[in-house]
Amino acid sequence: MGEENPDSHVIGDLKKLSTPWKIALERANRIKNIDLGEGFILDLACGSGIQLAAYSFQLNKPCIGIEINSERAEIAKKSLNLILNNDFAKYSKIIIGDSLKKSEIKLDSDIRFSLIHLDPARPTDIQSHTLSEMQPPPIETLNLWKDLLIEKGAIILDLSPRLSKVQCKTLQNELAKILPNYEQTWEWSSQGRGRVDRLSVWLGSVASKNKSSRYVRNHPQNIEKSIIVEANKLPWDYSDSKLTDINVNIGDYISIIDPALISSGLEDIWLKSQKFEGVWIRKNGRRPLFVHSQKINHSRKEEGLIFESGIIRSIIKHDINEGVDPLIEIGNKLEMKKLTLRLKMMPELQPKFQSKLDKNLIDWGGIGFVIKLPDDRLAVCTKI
Ligand SMILES: C[S@@+](CC[C@H](N)C(=O)[O-])C[C@H]1O[C@@H](n2cnc3c(N)ncnc32)[C@H](O)[C@@H]1O
Repeated sequence: MGEENPDSHVIGDLKKLSTPWKIALERANRIKNIDLGEGFILDLACGSGIQLAAYSFQLNKPCIGIEINSERAEIAKKSLNLILNNDFAKYSKIIIGDSLKKSEIKLDSDIRFSLIHLDPARPTDIQSHTLSEMQPPPIETLNLWKDLLIEKGAIILDLSPRLSKVQCKTLQNELAKILPNYEQTWEWSSQGRGRVDRLSVWLGSVASKNKSSRYVRNHPQNIEKSIIVEANKLPWDYSDSKLTDINVNIGDYISIIDPALISSGLEDIWLKSQKFEGVWIRKNGRRPLFVHSQKINHSRKEEGLIFESGIIRSIIKHDINEGVDPLIEIGNKLEMKKLTLRLKMMPELQPKFQSKLDKNLIDWGGIGFVIKLPDDRLAVCTKI
């Protein structure tokens, strides 16, 4: 029998828990030019230490991480040793301990923090999360440690993107109660796969002035190219407006917009900034649909918040789970060489039907996609 690496289960756990290095660096990079004043960086639940090391590395400040799990704390020590080679590395340390038992954490009496980070643990195997499941609990923990922040100090609190709007609003109010002088900016960030990868609250000097919400679309290769949309309104402050009941027609332009942008409630502000006029016909699910009267220009597509854009060439009544024969017929009539299925269907059918479409369309001509309209009809679109 082969020898089992004693660290293997810890490393497995850590992969689930820890912040990917690129993301850790991206957020550290964004606060690099903010004057945070003099003080250590404190991570109250540092896990693998990746995020803490990224802050320390980018902000050139010494850091302290507290971690309750001794095996993870050992890994965090290794992360700091590996990543920090600046002069501050020698003042930085990882403490094995419980952030809720502040009096047991041995720190120099005059130590002060310029940035406190808290990324509490939450269950990894469930669909929705609640505030009470976070460990350590954010309000109690921040309340204990806030007095060690310097005047210009800042806090970054990571949350589950699966918290409901009601829970977010409750937390917003509780944070305002314990930190009344700290401005809050709520941030939804996405790596571009159509889902929110991280929800966080940025408080104090890292909050954006008079902007309570922020959407960040991380650019996969180049962090400088991240897209940031900001506004002074939070998603739970909007009343759910009814979507326009319009009759979509052949010749209309239609775009699938990033659903993560919609979670942040910033979609209309972004559309306005792009002078992109039209109406929403679907805002929920993986493929929100926006119908517009004008073709979008190339630079807008490059923004990466528009997943697909095209002109509707045909609309049919058809249940996609029954097959793609009608789509092959339409595709060939419209001289299309590729039609991508962008609609909800039984997952086991998707690859089968896509490959049938690919094989049966003529191998020259246009490229398009198929979507399902809110009234369940299918629209065949040519890409623009
Ligand atoms: C989501 S992970 C943090 C990941 C971290 N940001 C990283 O980059 O790896 C949350 C961590 O909080 C730790 N934790 C939970 N309760 C704690 C407490 N009371 N005091 C200190 N750490 C705690 C868990 O052991 C876990 O490692």
